[in-house]
Amino acid sequence: MPDHRDDLVGVSRRLRGVAAAAARSVGPMLREAFRAPLEVSVKTGPQDLVTEHDRAAERTIVRHLLRAHPDSRVLGEEGGTQGAGRVLWLVDPIDGTTNFAHGLPHFCVSVAAVLDDDLVAGAIYDPIAEQMFTADLTGAWRDGAPLRSRGAPTADQAVILSDYPAGRDLARGPVAEVTFGALAREFRSVRRGGSGALALAYTAAGWADCTFATSTNPWDIGAGALIVQQAGGRYLAFSADGEPVTTALHEAPNYVAFAGDADYPQVTALVRGR
Ligand code: IPD
Ligand code: CA
Ligand code: CA
Repeated sequence: MPDHRDDLVGVSRRLRGVAAAAARSVGPMLREAFRAPLEVSVKTGPQDLVTEHDRAAERTIVRHLLRAHPDSRVLGEEGGTQGAGRVLWLVDPIDGTTNFAHGLPHFCVSVAAVLDDDLVAGAIYDPIAEQMFTADLTGAWRDGAPLRSRGAPTADQAVILSDYPAGRDLARGPVAEVTFGALAREFRSVRRGGSGALALAYTAAGWADCTFATSTNPWDIGAGALIVQQAGGRYLAFSADGEPVTTALHEAPNYVAFAGDADYPQVTALVRGR
């Protein structure tokens, strides 16, 4: 007799397939739109963009999810909450919209499934590289090959991917400049890629040793958090006050993720504001 855990594993496998298919379904439209003339609007300010393609891709993904798994509700960056089913889908139709809008080929689609506050499946799809990162409760993969991350033992051998500090961090005072300066001095390199979801996927792949961010939203991190964990890395989530969060990770705004057993306490301290 299958027990509850077997059932959950089976469900997570199925939801991983649904997430990956939904993310892949907008590949052709995003490739066609990329570097074509497009209208860009600002949302909260000049550092927060949206295009007609973000909205169109999200509509297509949501339709796909609700059709493939009707017992669903969706939280999308552009369309908000829809549906009332048991599985919660977190959808970022384009993570890295600034890159997309400027013709930089570094952005992705991120889709995650949450069941009873736990992340159970996720897909991060780069439509330009045509590369798919996925995870469920049994593992993590890149294009079907298992992912196993490994991190550098010391900071001077490690690469961090992070867009920190954003304008909002700098607006809080000089602390962001000081802490960022310390990281830039200590680590091999701190790279600003412009897609938090791809930074998590690359950390899961072991191409980077660490990534961190503050003030994120559930759709930015849902898929990447699970992919990092299932690739053998660590995803540490924190509240806005810097307190550790262990359930509903997607709702925690701040995080640091490490490849394999890497551990750089100075990055954790920065994220916690300590
Ligand atoms: C953004 C990206 C970026 C991060 C920003 C996010 P968007 O998402 O994840 O890496 O630094 O904070 O808003 O707006 O391109 O979906
Ligand atoms: Ca995003
Ligand atoms: Ca987005």
